[in-house]
Amino acid sequence: MSDPICIQFVCLGNICRSPLAKAVFRDKVEQAGLEEYFEIASSGTGSWHVGDTADDRMRQTAQRNDLSLEEHRASQFEAEDLERFDHIFVMDKSNLNDVLHLDEDDEYGGKVRLFREFDPEPDDYQVPDPYHGGRKGFERVYEIVERTADMLLHRLVDEYDLIEHVDGDETPEDVEET
Ligand code: 4NP
Repeated sequence: MSDPICIQFVCLGNICRSPLAKAVFRDKVEQAGLEEYFEIASSGTGSWHVGDTADDRMRQTAQRNDLSLEEHRASQFEAEDLERFDHIFVMDKSNLNDVLHLDEDDEYGGKVRLFREFDPEPDDYQVPDPYHGGRKGFERVYEIVERTADMLLHRLVDEYDLIEHVDGDETPEDVEET
């Protein structure tokens, strides 16, 4: 098998938005039977929460939507990630600036994009930071991430010519020629 497509989702603290984006995207990849093609990570541009679990409110939001963030531990985005990952999807414009700031020789800008570029209803192209708000903000992040991750996966399936199959469907190898 060829190398997996390495994807990283990035926010500020890596305890709310990007852990959720990773979990939602991974779930969609699994549902499409494509897990062998992807390596999926998340991180934050800040260091305050390194090693922490995901925010309780985001863990609850995930749980309400049948996803688990229990295994998550926060990490910080590093300059080396610019080389290592094929695609880096950032949650807001401040994350974009912070990540691009680490690209000292302007080599990797083409890999770094706002996640909401893939949102069919992109508003200002940013996933709002829910940290200082209430539960509604977390639910809103879930809605944005859910529809954006869906579109993102479809775009990557097209770009890399991957064959998506619904669970239980026959794979092309299973289909006998007649
Ligand atoms: P996140 O949310 O970037 O979506 O993980 C935040 C988490 C922590 C802080 C800010 C945003 N903070 O200021 O500690």
